[in-house]
Amino acid sequence: MASILNFPPIHFDFGAIKELTLELDKRKIDRPLVITDQGIVKHGVYRKLRDALPDDMAVSLFDKIPENPTILGVEQALEVYKKNSCNGIIGLGGGSVLDSGKALRVIATHDISLIDVLGNLDKITANVAPYITIPTTAGTGAEITPGGGIHPEPNAPALAIRSIHVRPDLAICDPEFTMTLPPRLTAATGMDALTHCVEGFLSNNSNPPTEAIALDGTRRVINFIDRAVTDGDDREARSEMSMAALEGGMAIYMGLGPIHALSMTFGNSPLHHGTLVTVAMPAVMRFYNDRIKGNALERIAEAMGLTADKESGNRIADAVAEINAKIGLPSTVREMGYDKTDIGQMVQDSCESHFNFSAPIRPNADEYEKIVIEVLG
Ligand SMILES: [Fe+2]
Repeated sequence: MASILNFPPIHFDFGAIKELTLELDKRKIDRPLVITDQGIVKHGVYRKLRDALPDDMAVSLFDKIPENPTILGVEQALEVYKKNSCNGIIGLGGGSVLDSGKALRVIATHDISLIDVLGNLDKITANVAPYITIPTTAGTGAEITPGGGIHPEPNAPALAIRSIHVRPDLAICDPEFTMTLPPRLTAATGMDALTHCVEGFLSNNSNPPTEAIALDGTRRVINFIDRAVTDGDDREARSEMSMAALEGGMAIYMGLGPIHALSMTFGNSPLHHGTLVTVAMPAVMRFYNDRIKGNALERIAEAMGLTADKESGNRIADAVAEINAKIGLPSTVREMGYDKTDIGQMVQDSCESHFNFSAPIRPNADEYEKIVIEVLG
């Protein structure tokens, strides 16, 4: 059975930010809180957003969302939201900011602490604060997805926040807002989008319309990531990568798999999510190579411009490793500075991840051990 969920409305193009005032008016939001991080403010990206809003609008700013989303960051944002009697949230940033907004919209209206929400997701009701997202990276897909992860402490594993009620009300994807993203983050977040397209496409949820979107996103990443990393001013490449990220977000609606399970395994340290998943991707593709029935791997290989045959899983793995090297990303988790050594715990964490539920094939403990050792390096 195909279960096709609907995405939030989206405005996409250079200049799409012009829609923001009208969209706030439609929702009767006249005292928005913009949540973001200090880098966004420093690089003048927040200024672009503020300039798009009426001068006399009571816009509040919270710019201390950390690099990885934490309960503390969301609670601090809530204080500003309440103090200034805000009546809507605008998330301006990458995955950390956009996921923090999903948690904030819940605790802004629910009389319950965030840690209790994270342990009792069924307590999230439709009574959430309005939430508009404006991504400043091209890769996480968080601008449209109905979930995310929040770390109780900076180095503790993230707890999932997942509910149709946290899905943003609207995404404004204006590639202009990604133009200052530095090369390394352009590379890592762009490859995150590829993993969303591929894992979503391969998931055990049949959904032909979204599968077509996932293949389209795959093509865009392969064709444009190098250009976006090499020349951040390449407007066509920036736009294509923003669209690929959005398509990756749509692919996430079908579910993910072992690549993202591994991102949780190694996610108990402050390593960048996008880098982690693209480092993990080759080992998972090699695991799939002779195990996935049908022509799913061939179809991905074809979208990537590779020879589509029985070796497609291995070809995809080699191609991803090659792209990672070309755009300056590491090839192992050890290279990223990960120093933990308890392989048994890593295997257990991988096996227990909720991402396995939508995997086309769930690796068993022995198989995960081989994958973990390869990814660790
Ligand atoms: Fe991801």
